[in-house]
Amino acid sequence: MTDRIAAEIAQLSEELRRHEWLYYVAAAPELPDSEFDRLMKRLEALETEHPALVAPDSPTRRVGGGPSDGMATIEHAIPMLSLDNSYDESELTEFEGRARRILGEQDMEYVCELKIDGVAVSLLYEDGAYVRGATRGDGRVGERITDNLRTIRSIPLRLRGDAPAALEVRGEVYMPRDKLDAVNVQREEAGEPRFANPRNAAAGSVRLQNASATASRPLDVFLYSVAENGAPLTGTHAETLESMAGWGFRTNPEARVVATIDEAVAYCHEWTERRPELLYEIDGVVVKVNALSQQRELGSTAKSPRWAISYKFPATRAMTVVREIQAQVGRTGVLTPRATLAPVELDGVTISHATLHNADEVARKDIRVGDTVTLERAGGVIPAVVAVVKERRPEDAEPFAMPSVCPACGEAVTRIADEAATRCANPGCLAQLHRRLEHFASRKALDIDGMGTSVAQSLADAGMVRDLSDVYSLDVSALADLDGMAEPSARGLTHSIAASKNRDPARLLHAIGVPFVGANIAELLVDEFGSIDAVAAASAEALEAIHGIGERVAASVVGFFASDANRRVLDVMRQSGVRMARETTAVETTDTLAGATFVLTGELPTLARADAGARIKAAGGRVTGSVSGKTDYVVAGANAGSKLTRAQDLGVAVLDEDALLDLLRAD
Ligand code: IVH
Repeated sequence: MTDRIAAEIAQLSEELRRHEWLYYVAAAPELPDSEFDRLMKRLEALETEHPALVAPDSPTRRVGGGPSDGMATIEHAIPMLSLDNSYDESELTEFEGRARRILGEQDMEYVCELKIDGVAVSLLYEDGAYVRGATRGDGRVGERITDNLRTIRSIPLRLRGDAPAALEVRGEVYMPRDKLDAVNVQREEAGEPRFANPRNAAAGSVRLQNASATASRPLDVFLYSVAENGAPLTGTHAETLESMAGWGFRTNPEARVVATIDEAVAYCHEWTERRPELLYEIDGVVVKVNALSQQRELGSTAKSPRWAISYKFPATRAMTVVREIQAQVGRTGVLTPRATLAPVELDGVTISHATLHNADEVARKDIRVGDTVTLERAGGVIPAVVAVVKERRPEDAEPFAMPSVCPACGEAVTRIADEAATRCANPGCLAQLHRRLEHFASRKALDIDGMGTSVAQSLADAGMVRDLSDVYSLDVSALADLDGMAEPSARGLTHSIAASKNRDPARLLHAIGVPFVGANIAELLVDEFGSIDAVAAASAEALEAIHGIGERVAASVVGFFASDANRRVLDVMRQSGVRMARETTAVETTDTLAGATFVLTGELPTLARADAGARIKAAGGRVTGSVSGKTDYVVAGANAGSKLTRAQDLGVAVLDEDALLDLLRAD
């Protein structure tokens, strides 16, 4: 009997240790939190019943996972505990019951806060100055990430007002949801695996070896508590949050004081619904007893405070089984593996498919038909397979292999050595043309109303569009011949096609489907060069000199415009009156800035970068791509990244657009 229990304890401990490591160290969890908690509770129950079997290194004796090797560590003067989880109303009511047993009939209030889904950090200030930043680590020992955290703009380096002389605050660093995509595009370009969700992205970004790499990641922070390390705090948690805001910390605006646990439950339900409104991910709500004297009276267990509990939203993750993996042909011919799943509900939506991105990703996660996988709605929108639950793999599951021929046209596919992609290189592959045309007409590209998936497909199938320029020779009578298209719709479509000729050239550049050139990169390129022709004529070096453009994008742009067929398509579009250039204002040449070297970074409020560059050159200045000791001025706009940091480090003068315009006006 004891043997059997000892074996179960050993097996549970082993499993939990692996999942803890995956969660805290590798930032690549495989299990939903609820499943992890279930295993932990089972182990706790066994150990409570059989105390003689508790090992000193049991997962129940720890607060979390260990810090990763190779980073300097610090010891938290006050441990960073974790929160007990609850998943429904009754568990919140039980939480109140436990608190009541200690506090008796005292009046109690709660503060409800959003549970930000990022990475926990601690910040230390001495005499108002930021001196140290750390991760939570295992709760007792964390990693020192002072310089990395310094790069997050919302972390104050000096406090305002009457901040205590010694102050440690805690909070959550996160990556805004809409920024994850851009970071993943960069990672793919650098041949690195994608982050499955904003939390992993935040955890990976704060722990980078190089602070300037962290600086280029779009991170933000909400601070939610003060660790008592001076005089004990008095008053309420809500007042502490107010004081923190007064000292210059970014606190979350949605925190709310409520008088009863029922109101706390209502807050949890409200945010379960309102969650999509937020620009950041939350994975639940934290309910905290408001009076600090009551918090002290309630105290903590070794793992978590008795005065707070987290309410976890239902199934942000779910488990299901992979039934099939198929390769789909994209608009650039890239084959994307896509999983068909046993339907499962996730955030109220039934999911039966998930993209697996590319063959490397499938190989890295080792996803096989028959596997049980964890799904997550990454970035709140696209469901993604986060990991395989290896313990549940059927014995006969075979590794996935990409097909050797295109599933649409049957031509042999090629695997490009330094790309993660497998491609169908057949220019006549109809599946590619469908996707290209659909993309060309899509909202973010040329926004051709009335040319959705099925019309695009019919146009390609009927041979009316063989390449993208054919769109501009479609007329009402030809369109009206298309199956299912009546004359009024055909007329409407020709109007939308005509309207698409005058869109911003960056949208055209995005629409024509240069591999790796998404909307943001197209915007960067046209900002810099002003026209499609200038982009087409640019050398790889000139392209790479632009911040945000890597070697792979540069090579792809050069390769695309080297193709006669692609150039011909653009020529026909030009003849059809499609707009190819931004208007640039003619500038007078002077020598106001003779000899001065400039670097432009970020988005300027009114000038396109190409315009700003043209004006500087017209005034005799030089524009270069990278900041060095020889740079005289860095002109920085919104979302300026590492170039601005470098300028500040080197003491180079930084100008905003107004200051640049003043300089250009000076004689
Ligand atoms: S209070 C004793 N408040 O959730 C711990 N935590 O297990 C007190 N978190 O990673 C934590 N938002 O960083 C608290 N508003 C919030 C939070 C929050 C996110 C994170 C915390 C930690 C985990 C707690």
